[in-house]
Amino acid sequence: MTPTVPRNGGYDYAVPRGNLMIEDLNGRVAVVTGAASGIGLAMVEAFLTEGMNVVLSDVDAGALDAQVGRLTPEVGDRASGVVCDVTDPDAVTALADTAWDRHGAVHVLCNNAGVGPAGAMLDTTAAEWRWTFEVNVLGVAHGVLAFAPRMVAAGAGHIVNVASQAGLMTNAFLGMYAASKHAVVGLSEALYRELEATPVGVSCLCPELVSTAIFDVARVRPDWVDVHESNDATQGSLAELLDDRGIGTDLVAERVVDAVRADRFWVFTHDVTVPVAARRFEDLQAGRNPTAAP
Ligand SMILES: NC(=O)c1ccc[n+]([C@@H]2O[C@H](COP(=O)([O-])OP(=O)(O)OC[C@H]3O[C@@H](n4cnc5c(N)ncnc54)[C@H](O)[C@@H]3O)[C@@H](O)[C@H]2O)c1
Repeated sequence: MTPTVPRNGGYDYAVPRGNLMIEDLNGRVAVVTGAASGIGLAMVEAFLTEGMNVVLSDVDAGALDAQVGRLTPEVGDRASGVVCDVTDPDAVTALADTAWDRHGAVHVLCNNAGVGPAGAMLDTTAAEWRWTFEVNVLGVAHGVLAFAPRMVAAGAGHIVNVASQAGLMTNAFLGMYAASKHAVVGLSEALYRELEATPVGVSCLCPELVSTAIFDVARVRPDWVDVHESNDATQGSLAELLDDRGIGTDLVAERVVDAVRADRFWVFTHDVTVPVAARRFEDLQAGRNPTAAP
């Protein structure tokens, strides 16, 4: 017997999808995790420019205060901050509570907080794996669990999960990061399928190199995470690569705003992404071992 799976993921929803594409962002509410730096901060600025109210959240209280303090003279209480470690499900639920209390709604959630540890797989530690997956994967899951049911119940919403090009292909020396980003792509696709018939949209952002501090991991890594010193050099050369070749965070934020408006699932920032992902499937189809990455 074929099991029946509800098209709407089991949710009751009042308004069919399509009526709720969030074209007019003015006056709407966004919550961004990992918002005190890089891509998260650029999304915050882009949303504020669109006239949205934005709740910035980050584990780094000092950086968060500094950014909220920088933004509020211009936008007033449309920008506010909540310290939140996305690895803690209760903290993410508290973030959702605060956002709803403050604004009465949340229309856009960006599960953006992430960390970028690098190095040879054989030189990684169990603690690094745990930390990477707790932030990059469970952090996204916690956001989905805390926000998506309320968005469905409210009849509107859009969730942007920040994966990476590394969620669609792999490089040597970024195995742990790539594994975590593959998980984000997988959970985002499943979430899209389950929410397809609800009023809540899902996007999956897969940037290639963007000029941010992502590879300066020492600044965000908790003390309990032990690492092999041999990985410092890899981490340093990846940071230099981002400085040399990374695109501006504002370009990424523009793509995100467009994707939310258009209710588009895949959000790419570089022309190279689709061809490198396609090559993996060409290997697969041809029965070849993985072709070397460019
Ligand atoms: N920069 C790139 O080239 C690139 C490419 C693809 C994907 N990404 C992804 O973009 C996202 C944003 O990264 P970025 O490049 O802007 O780096 P970033 O280091 O500038 O910003 C990441 C932010 O996340 C915060 N953070 C870290 N751990 C956290 C936690 N446990 N809870 C809450 N916040 C936490 C940091 O304090 C920081 O403010 C990440 O998910 C990253 O994997 C970045």
